[in-house]
Amino acid sequence: AKTHHHTWNITYQYKSPDCFRKLAVTINGESPGPTIRAAQGDTLVVTVHNMLDTENTAIHWHGIRQIGSPWADGTAGVTQCPILPGETFTYRFVVDRPGTYMYHAHYGMQRVAGLDGMLVVSVPDGVAEPFAYDGEHTVLLMDWWHQSVYEQAVGLASVPMVFVGEPQSLLINGRGVFNCSPPAASNGGGAACNAFGGECGWPTLFTASPGKTYRLRIGSLTSLASLSFEIEGHTMTVVEADGYYVTPVVVKNLFIYSGETYSVLVTADQDPSRSYWAAETHPWHLHGHDFWVLGYGDGRYDPADVVLQNANALARNVSEVHPWHLHGHDFWVLGYGEGKFVPEVDGPGLNAASARGGAVMKNTVALHPMGWTAVRFRASNPGVWLFHCHLEAHVYMGMGVVFEEGVDVLPRLPASIMGCGRTKGHHY
Ligand code: C2O
Ligand code: CU
Repeated sequence: AKTHHHTWNITYQYKSPDCFRKLAVTINGESPGPTIRAAQGDTLVVTVHNMLDTENTAIHWHGIRQIGSPWADGTAGVTQCPILPGETFTYRFVVDRPGTYMYHAHYGMQRVAGLDGMLVVSVPDGVAEPFAYDGEHTVLLMDWWHQSVYEQAVGLASVPMVFVGEPQSLLINGRGVFNCSPPAASNGGGAACNAFGGECGWPTLFTASPGKTYRLRIGSLTSLASLSFEIEGHTMTVVEADGYYVTPVVVKNLFIYSGETYSVLVTADQDPSRSYWAAETHPWHLHGHDFWVLGYGDGRYDPADVVLQNANALARNVSEVHPWHLHGHDFWVLGYGEGKFVPEVDGPGLNAASARGGAVMKNTVALHPMGWTAVRFRASNPGVWLFHCHLEAHVYMGMGVVFEEGVDVLPRLPASIMGCGRTKGHHY
């Protein structure tokens, strides 16, 4: 097993992922940050310098269970003191299972300011996966607001509450489309719109060779939106969810909630003389679309290929789904249903499914409106673990709980997680 070292400077930068200039929180100037790659059993050492002048940070490794290293979970206020401006914190942990994971800030609403990225854990050399492919791409889905996260946070904490509303754009790998032309731009347009001219509005381009099969590792870190991801003219075969292989299933579109990851296989089996759009949409409001290009052939981008549609007309979601995410564990999804869970009626079926080994393992699962979802996990990883709705606005408003698990058997905690700022190093 190898050890991979990364050094990150967390800084503010102006970014215009969708033509609209906004202050973003970046890793070494990038948002999203770099895709981290490692093999099963490797150790990651990430040294984080907080170079933000006015706010704390902490980085969570979403889907990594942190077995034996709960203090590296990166949850400010739960597993560590936040990293104060000017301070440095080093995360060291083992990636124990292959799969598609993510990382993101876990302080305030900072994730939504762009501090996020993907973490890919491959199988060790010489180990085969249960499916074959010729290449792979990571696909990180986000929703994006033009209002700063600071204003959003103040609104959510105000009485009466000012809700964040619908996102102005949806991003794929930090690229989105917003129509700066009036009157579209009247919704948050103005001087900040198109500030960087031609640099913005270029979609992410994934290249593919005819006949080849690609693995797309798709993750969603939306703040609010539940998405449907699809690729024009192609089907996708889902093969992995949250780090677990699944029985392959062929879909036209993939519904994905914030905090979930999937791998899909896509074969470039269509006319290679043109490009195809990969799109993420709000499934319930199909009048607002964002589009990205999936290119064939030599990967050269052809501006004739561009179809832009306005994404700022998205109506407020009528239904509220809460994708619940558990730190430090994966859980069995025992079942879900409508209405109120009745133990005598619904219970026996759940237990039977898990006894058969038929339950799906996940770290994030959707709780549908007016319904229930039952999960089970083994409390085998001592630590303090957050269990929360993965919608940033909801967790900011307090939709989460902390499990204290076997804290009496934890070894001595590292000094680096104890105390904030000048209290650090003092003994209690
Ligand atoms: Cu990705 Cu506590 O979350
Ligand atoms: Cu929620």
